[in-house]
Amino acid sequence: MEPVGQFLAPVLAIESSCDDTSVALVTVDGNVVSCLSQSQDAVHTTFGGIVPELASRNHGLHLLPLIQRVLNESQVEPRELSGLAVTSRPGLIGSLLVGVVTAKTLAMAWRLDWVGVNHLEGHLLAPFLRDSAYSPAFSFDEPFVALAVSGGHSSLYEVQRPGHYRILGSTLDDAAGEAFDKFAKMIGLGFPGGPLVDRLAENGDPAKYHFPRGLIHDPSLNFSFSGLKSAAHRIIESLSPGGLEAERPHLCASFQEAVVEALLVKLDRARELLGVRRYVLTGGVSANRRLRCGVEGWAGGHGVQVLIPPPRYCTDNAAMIGFAGALRLAAGERSAWDLGPRPSALPGDFS
Ligand code: KG4
Ligand code: ZN
Repeated sequence: MEPVGQFLAPVLAIESSCDDTSVALVTVDGNVVSCLSQSQDAVHTTFGGIVPELASRNHGLHLLPLIQRVLNESQVEPRELSGLAVTSRPGLIGSLLVGVVTAKTLAMAWRLDWVGVNHLEGHLLAPFLRDSAYSPAFSFDEPFVALAVSGGHSSLYEVQRPGHYRILGSTLDDAAGEAFDKFAKMIGLGFPGGPLVDRLAENGDPAKYHFPRGLIHDPSLNFSFSGLKSAAHRIIESLSPGGLEAERPHLCASFQEAVVEALLVKLDRARELLGVRRYVLTGGVSANRRLRCGVEGWAGGHGVQVLIPPPRYCTDNAAMIGFAGALRLAAGERSAWDLGPRPSALPGDFS
């Protein structure tokens, strides 16, 4: 799965595993020709979380117009594509189905090869994307450890090279992004909560309230974030009526500090165990400013290299799916017509 030179015909990529519809054109060297996304935040915010039925209906509304825009704006014709890549797993079945069926239909109509990609593989390769404003400081020419933190996943991986991923540890309960979203809901913020907590925390005291740092004394590389909910509940109950409003910045800063510290402890344990020199931070939560700063400080303190993609490649996007798909297609992989959407990974995606 090494890039085969500067093969510049782009792959058209589709990401619709959750609530964002995204379409991109990406070449096998990770160059993003175009990436357009349609957020559904406004649809789901009134429900305080993602409503799967509404997510799939909205993918159905937005996907084809986005594909048309990406091709038109880049002046790329379907016959100029090297193939199609689509997230086929894991995710919400109805949402994935819209992307997978669209990709298969276009592949048949345009007589192109297509490949179904694991969404997490996309996140693992996102730090290596490049565009006119971003280029990675190092490549995947040597093994690295990835901390992938999103709304659905929080895991550490050892990556030998693209296509060869070993899970070192995962969350035993909530994902980090899920914890941010649930906490935001408890203190009366909107959805998704992560960016709102990040913003409010800016003016808060991270030491004012104590939130548990799950599993930090456990020797494994697993995480646990479910204890944060009961701690938040207790703290909120203890506040005087009307006190929540004034305390929100401090609550956000203290909560965020606990999540960041728990992640940093396990990242450092992975460094001690594996002795790897290169690290990447990826997934929606890696857009968090305190986490980015903490991970950069940690890397500097230990003389290791870390790559953190710009926020547009941290959260869900089709560019990362296109990159993973382009590498797979270049390596000769093709998906069969009977590959459908799956809620979980395929055996063999990770070891
Ligand atoms: O990777 P992603 O876009 O979707 C999944 O694959 O889940 O991650 C979305 C998650 C949400 O839980 C969102 O609240 C969180 O990433 N997130 C953040 C920030 N931006 C997005 N969490 C903390 N701070 C942020 N700035
Ligand atoms: Zn994601």
